[in-house]
Amino acid sequence: MSDNVALVLLAAGKGTRLKSSTPKPLLNVLGQAMIDYVIESAQGFAKSSAVELLSGVVVGYAKEEVKAHLDNHFSNLSFATQEQQLGTAHAVKCFFEQSLEATKFEYTLICCADTPLLTEQTISKIYTIARAQNAKAVAATFRAKNPSGYGRIVRHRRGFEIVEHKDCDNEQLTINEVNSGVYLVKTKYLLDMLGKVGNKNASGEFYLTDIFKQNEDVHPIMFENSDEFFGVNDYTQLSYVRSKMQERKNEALMKAGVDIIDPKNTYIDWGVQVDSDSCIEPFVSLKGKSKIASNVVIGQSSIIINSGIGSMTKVLPMSHIEDSNIQSKCSIGPFARIRPNTQIADEVKIGNFVETKKSQLSKGAKVSHLSYVGDARIGENTNIGCGFITCNYDGKNKHQTVIGSNCFIGSDVQIIAPVDIGNDCFVAAGSTITHSLKDGDFAVARSRQETKAGLAKKFIKK
Ligand code: UD1
Ligand code: MG
Repeated sequence: MSDNVALVLLAAGKGTRLKSSTPKPLLNVLGQAMIDYVIESAQGFAKSSAVELLSGVVVGYAKEEVKAHLDNHFSNLSFATQEQQLGTAHAVKCFFEQSLEATKFEYTLICCADTPLLTEQTISKIYTIARAQNAKAVAATFRAKNPSGYGRIVRHRRGFEIVEHKDCDNEQLTINEVNSGVYLVKTKYLLDMLGKVGNKNASGEFYLTDIFKQNEDVHPIMFENSDEFFGVNDYTQLSYVRSKMQERKNEALMKAGVDIIDPKNTYIDWGVQVDSDSCIEPFVSLKGKSKIASNVVIGQSSIIINSGIGSMTKVLPMSHIEDSNIQSKCSIGPFARIRPNTQIADEVKIGNFVETKKSQLSKGAKVSHLSYVGDARIGENTNIGCGFITCNYDGKNKHQTVIGSNCFIGSDVQIIAPVDIGNDCFVAAGSTITHSLKDGDFAVARSRQETKAGLAKKFIKK
């Protein structure tokens, strides 16, 4: 039989040490907010253990911003506000006062918003052990190399206590088993104890840790690997959490068959999908909700943001692709810039120093060198020479360029949009095109060459 569990996620604190205008729970770790990971882990645990979960979050500092973010990313969260941060026990109390439904849940799982490395597996382990022991409450603990700042675990023959660093005597200060801040408690016991917690301590706060007592059925569960409980209070810790999370993401991708050449220097957001047999070269960033299909190569130092890359496409080094979609068997870059709303069909070639924006390139089209394609539609198998420019902006409005299929557009052509060029057209190099062309037309729009025999010496200064 499985139980029901109420998650109480503590996220009311200010995160003073970060000196950031972003509320701490919303700090970015691999493209998503720190707090999202904890909720995902708790929800993952509930799903895999077939436990009914109520997901509660205690907000306080910047509560509107934190709530708005969470409402956008999760459904059915239940929020409680802690107006004044009077301590962790007070935060939990606020939650139950504002979410009566939660009082009916058998267990309460308490976590902090600033420990994003906590996994579903560890929560499951805590839950399984607590149930096997029929404990009233358990706290996850670990041995800290430097226990300073943490609550110390004082074990008794029956039960245990947590003494906050500030309240430790000299002997207690030497204890290196510390409190992680993750607890699973029988709700009935929790509600009973919360009523008894006082604030006569060095901080004058209501400590949640005071629910653990000698001679009660409460147990510490010690974990060998403390990484998962690592909390973020400053930017050094944030960078550590990011690097650990990146390690997890990259390892998962490599296990799934992605060739990451230099995983320590490859930045892939949590929400990015990469299929097997693709190769990611060093210093690549894959961001947001990007999707990379199989047999793709992403060349060194490229940046891909919220974009799709189809199978067998090669993105050559130093390319920047944003909010766009590239299909199969294309070649992009090196040094290409694919700006938002570019749709690139199969077998397209975009070469070096080409910029595209809000454009569609049909199958087999080629823009190989030094060009700007903006607000344009380019048909199948059309070849565009070097130094082509869509002059899409008249200083006030943007205009469309349409080029049909199987056209040849010579080098150094400018199109003064709006212009509509039919299929099978030929535009001579160096032309400035201001009028539309019908299917099969030839256009040349440049001044004729004059040659004066032998006159060069007049202009060449010796
Ligand atoms: C807490 C534990 C300590 C443990 C450590 C692990 C207590 C009393 N101490 O200390 O034993 O070793 O975590 O990291 O719990 N918060 C609120 N409202 C409040 C106070 C805090 O929501 O009134 C939230 C904070 O935003 C944070 C979490 O609770 O997410 C923990 O609070 P914090 O002040 O960081 O506690 P620590 O001093 O780290
Ligand atoms: Mg803390």
